Amino acid sequence: MKKTLLLLFALAFCNQATFAQKETTVITIKNTANAPTINKNIYGHFAEHLGRCIYGGFFVGDTSKIPNTAGVRNDIIDALKKLKIPNLRWPGGCFADTYHWKDGIGPKEQRPTIVNQWWGGVTEDNSFGTHDFLNLCEVLGAEPYLAGNVGSGTVQELADWVQYTNFSGKSPMSDLRKKNGRTEPWKVKFWGVGNEAWGCGGNMTADYYAGEYRKYATFMSDWENTGGLMRIASGSNGDDYNWTETLMKNIPINMLGGVGVHHYAVIDWKKKGDAVSFTEDQYFQTMKSALKMEELVTKHAAIMDKYDPEKKVTMAVDEWGGWYEVEKGTNPGFLYQQNTMRDAVLAGATLNIFNNHADRVRMANLAQCVNVLQAVILTDKAKMILTPTYHVMQLYSAHQDAQLIPIDIKSPLYTLNGESLPALSVSASKAKTGLTHVSIVNVDSKKANTVEIDLNELGIKSVSGQIIASSKLQDFNSFDNPDKIKPVAFKGYEIKKGKLVVNIPPFSVIMLEGK
Ligand code: AHR
Repeated sequence: MKKTLLLLFALAFCNQATFAQKETTVITIKNTANAPTINKNIYGHFAEHLGRCIYGGFFVGDTSKIPNTAGVRNDIIDALKKLKIPNLRWPGGCFADTYHWKDGIGPKEQRPTIVNQWWGGVTEDNSFGTHDFLNLCEVLGAEPYLAGNVGSGTVQELADWVQYTNFSGKSPMSDLRKKNGRTEPWKVKFWGVGNEAWGCGGNMTADYYAGEYRKYATFMSDWENTGGLMRIASGSNGDDYNWTETLMKNIPINMLGGVGVHHYAVIDWKKKGDAVSFTEDQYFQTMKSALKMEELVTKHAAIMDKYDPEKKVTMAVDEWGGWYEVEKGTNPGFLYQQNTMRDAVLAGATLNIFNNHADRVRMANLAQCVNVLQAVILTDKAKMILTPTYHVMQLYSAHQDAQLIPIDIKSPLYTLNGESLPALSVSASKAKTGLTHVSIVNVDSKKANTVEIDLNELGIKSVSGQIIASSKLQDFNSFDNPDKIKPVAFKGYEIKKGKLVVNIPPFSVIMLEGK
């Protein structure tokens, strides 16, 4: 109670702060003439057969007492609809290269089981399969993004999957689909050609995978020659630039819809630290790893530019997020972790990076959607909570399909133990509705920062805002206190002589809306 009062006091103080004595960072607007659109698919999600993401998360079965639609929890469906999730990647991850899609169609009681060898060694009954997933995407209004099995599958198997989901004429696979109750094809556009081919997807070299990709991609046709299929190559592990270079050099551009990149914010893979009980140093190290995304995206993009100057190929950061030790007492293979203000800051700053690179980054998938890693939703039996990351994604949904407003900022530094990071992260866009949105993150864990923007340059006259903040970095939403962290109205700004001056509290995420 005392802490809540302190927070309210702090926010109220920030809301009416006098800005005069503070050092102010000026944000300037760059030329907007050729600014790209922020592809809504940057706000994509990821649902792997991992721990309690699908089974016991999304999918409870149609006999469950938990209200559901064809076995998928209604509360999750509602929450994801509010998030406007543009696409959902499935069934993995590492799981994808072990998955044989034909085991997940037809009468459920006749489906064979699969041992989830990557994640906890549990036996799954394949009751959630292609129809369940694609129908769910229709309900959500999200594009499905299917990750094909290249590691342990065959070209024929993946080609058949495309025919099964996409072909409207008569064929063996479309007949099978119809027999299983679905007449019209789903027309799946996004297809991953394997996953992490350098690791769990087959431990391939870049050269070898480039050859495999060409072979698989040849036979992954949309069967109606509409050109609507986007094939996405399994991308590099973080800063493996040679991987991207090899793919770009060896795969013809017309066969390549996208190239993936995976990067997790991790302190140290051998000592990842607790998701909730962390020190300021651990927070700093997590943010250092998260902010490396700027360098990764810039350098991978420069390589792609060499081979594809017209930027036809999408960079798909199809796995990103914070990765900590699993919650004590949970299955180590299930990757269940809580989600704190650290994750809110991480999400806001990462999404700003993607927005600012919207010319090349046109798809990204947060790992993962429900009960795994940096989840937006956590469930405990019938209960469900929205995490701080959910609220950031919801605020940022205003940027989806809006035109980027390129900005310049010389950020102050957040310094700890002799190391420094940029304290401020900002991106801005203009929506088709005419509304302008500016998202600002203060990464600094202790110091408030002040920014100034010229209203004329931004093309707005009035502003409103929302903030995600809390009294401690370690704060989170629990099943007992699910709304501890959620967006609230933000008034910590003033307009002075045509300039918008905003005071941003430490470790907070702000969305300003202007018109
Ligand atoms: O998201 C968890 C795992 O991380 C995925 O299965 C894999 O692709 C990555 O290594």
